[in-house]
Amino acid sequence: MSKTNILQHLAIIMDGNGRWAKMREKARTQGHKVGAETVRAITTYCAKHETIETLTLYAFSTENWKRPKMEVSFLMKLLDNYLTNELDTYMELGTRFETIGDLSPFSPKLKKTIEKTKEATKKNTKLVQVLALNYGSRDEIVRAANRVIADKKVLTEESLSAALDSPYSDIDLLIRTSGEQRLSNFLLWQLSYSELFFTETLWPDFSPQELEKIIENFQLRDRKFGGI
Ligand code: FPP
Repeated sequence: MSKTNILQHLAIIMDGNGRWAKMREKARTQGHKVGAETVRAITTYCAKHETIETLTLYAFSTENWKRPKMEVSFLMKLLDNYLTNELDTYMELGTRFETIGDLSPFSPKLKKTIEKTKEATKKNTKLVQVLALNYGSRDEIVRAANRVIADKKVLTEESLSAALDSPYSDIDLLIRTSGEQRLSNFLLWQLSYSELFFTETLWPDFSPQELEKIIENFQLRDRKFGGI
């Protein structure tokens, strides 16, 4: 008998903005700008999807600070503008905005926009969009372990899971765009039993149509969760 997997939590490593721009002889920042439009299109698709409850997107890693200063500040401004301009769309689509990662190094202005968006969208129930910002999985696990120790609890899978930044369900499907086949320190704990999908498409060219095809592929996979 054939069974269909239910997709509740989708995570995406959005990769290839720089290469997309380079191929068009444009500045890397142009790739990020078009990439932000893809974020909007994919979030809209997920909010309207019947079973997807959580969409986690890798927007800025703990390693991304190593990029040229100008690119980093462009990404910060792009994020601030995106959150400000998209508020109506978050509300229309019933999307709650959340983050994972250590927000402490961000500017007071960006932190304020992030908090404002979280507060304004906190009652929305159709989809949770989680942006990973200054996120690194090892960093998250170490901070979680320290929280468990500080609370004088016994370190178990359950207590560690509960102390992570992301109190969301385990991830069902991870997609990475641009042909790279790496996890790059993304959600190592939460991806333990995820299905993985790698596409050659660069993030600015990624579309809801392609996502739909990947979901069809995911639905037919044989998920074993360590069993037989
Ligand atoms: C990877 O492409 C992308 C990033 C490091 C940043 C992701 C940012 C966006 C998709 C746009 C803004 C996001 C939001 C939420 C508004 P890369 O620069 O590493 O590409 P490359 O590997 O081709 O150089």
